[in-house]
Amino acid sequence: MPSDPLRCATGDLEKRKTGVGSGVGKGTIQEPEYVREAFARIADRYVTTNHVLSLGTDILWRRKVARIVRRWKPERVLDIATGTGDLALEIQDACPDAEVTGSDFCAEMLVHAEKRGLSRTLVADALALPFENASFDVVTVAFGLRNMASYSDALREMRRVLRPEGHLLVLDFSLPDGPLRRPYRWYLHDVLPKLAGWLTRHCDAYEYLGGSIEEFPMGEEMTALIKECGFAEAESIPLTFGVASIYTARG
Ligand SMILES: C[S@@+](CC[C@H](N)C(=O)[O-])C[C@H]1O[C@@H](n2cnc3c(N)ncnc32)[C@H](O)[C@@H]1O
Repeated sequence: MPSDPLRCATGDLEKRKTGVGSGVGKGTIQEPEYVREAFARIADRYVTTNHVLSLGTDILWRRKVARIVRRWKPERVLDIATGTGDLALEIQDACPDAEVTGSDFCAEMLVHAEKRGLSRTLVADALALPFENASFDVVTVAFGLRNMASYSDALREMRRVLRPEGHLLVLDFSLPDGPLRRPYRWYLHDVLPKLAGWLTRHCDAYEYLGGSIEEFPMGEEMTALIKECGFAEAESIPLTFGVASIYTARG
């Protein structure tokens, strides 16, 4: 599963606590420098760790996203918080005629995106994108919005750079409904951090992930937030029993 590194034994969690969950209506702030450094530390192990922890499911989710994006026939696509480029590369393959740009504020993650073949990358903070208004036909963000200092500021910035009627797509974790929720929470809070800590060689590397998922808006709460930020036609598509969700909307 995508990495939300963070916290090493002592100190870091306290540093992070003010930021856990972030965003909307909660008056708390993700600490951007802390998030950036945390991803820089695990950049070289990020891709493998994700695939192992999700048993490859994350690959299928991104492929599904790329198929959706292909149907929109975009000319210019921006993948925000692109990290090691996993989603941008899928979109680049699915839409060979499109110009796909991957941006991220962590240069260490982008180095891997470039090595893996992403042709256009840019170091940029998602909350202050260095693009003109209406620059893109499609804006995507996978497992990135959840880490940002303000979900709503980030969504409004995405809308600014999206052309009118352009498409937004957000892919991120959610919680399954019904009987699966409890065992999944156990996996998320008790199993995954230990496994990820061992894989990334950063103690407690993924302990923050569960908390951030619990606090991240999902389903109707997320579609309402997307609409509040100026988008239309917001819809959610649950994936793999609701463990992740795709949200789409129009600019
Ligand atoms: C969990 S990774 C996701 C990477 C990739 N999208 C994927 O699907 O695997 C989250 C990424 O978000 C980036 N990120 C977090 N906050 C950001 C911000 N404010 N601006 C730009 N990138 C940000 C991190 O640097 C990291 O590379």
